[in-house]
Amino acid sequence: MQKGDLLYEGKAKRVYLTDDPTLYIVEYKDTATAFDGLKKEELTNKGVLNNSIAALFFLMLQGAGVPTHFIKKLNEREMLVKALQIIPMEVIVRNIAAGSLSKRLGLAEGAPLACTVLEFNLKNDELHDPMLNHYHIQALGLATPQEVARMEELALRINDLLRPFLEKRDIILVDFKLEFGRSQGEIFLGDEISPDTCRFWDAGSGEKLDKDRFRRDLGGVTDAYAEVLRRLQEVK
Ligand code: TMP
Ligand code: ASP
Repeated sequence: MQKGDLLYEGKAKRVYLTDDPTLYIVEYKDTATAFDGLKKEELTNKGVLNNSIAALFFLMLQGAGVPTHFIKKLNEREMLVKALQIIPMEVIVRNIAAGSLSKRLGLAEGAPLACTVLEFNLKNDELHDPMLNHYHIQALGLATPQEVARMEELALRINDLLRPFLEKRDIILVDFKLEFGRSQGEIFLGDEISPDTCRFWDAGSGEKLDKDRFRRDLGGVTDAYAEVLRRLQEVK
């Protein structure tokens, strides 16, 4: 398998073609961004940590029967994935109030939610990833009602798998973002699951172990990511 041309460069990853049209290579960069790319910094080793962390999450989910794009980790910064046609939506799962939900609805960060909340956003930095309801998704032709139902089912299942997995490692899964794509008529989990795309709080101290450390200038960003990786690698 040969690495080919750059297909797409995002804020935190690059996607390359390969000589097999069904496979892509994803390279994790050290760039950290927030506020739709307004705040940007290079954080040495972040890409290496996120590649390892995402690989471990994908492996766990695949083992539990969740279809993901992950095939294998290739090296420190790269993983081999199934080529997907990405649906340009972010699926956000929330267990505890934080971030934009707290702001919009006036809820204290850390406030419990009576049920898990699912949100859909359009992936569009210029428009600041506006929230979509089911009508918007149909009106824009982003995904069929069946695909939306499948993404909701998978997002809730992933939450049900991730929460206890992380709880065993003394990490509270506050919220996270998923992206899905199509391959041969089926929906697969794509993108990444990492401290860039999740809120992780230490179960004992409540300390933030995710990209909020960067967004809010708390310092120790990659130390927190390394701590997440260390806990994921612990045999439990
Ligand atoms: P929010 O509270 O800012 O809406 O974020 C909810 C979750 O989604 C949080 O875990 C961070 C993640 N997220 C992304 O991964 N990418 C994004 O562009 C945004 C806005 C959030
Ligand atoms: N990922 C988005 C950005 O880079 C927003 C965020 O995660 O805060 O701007």
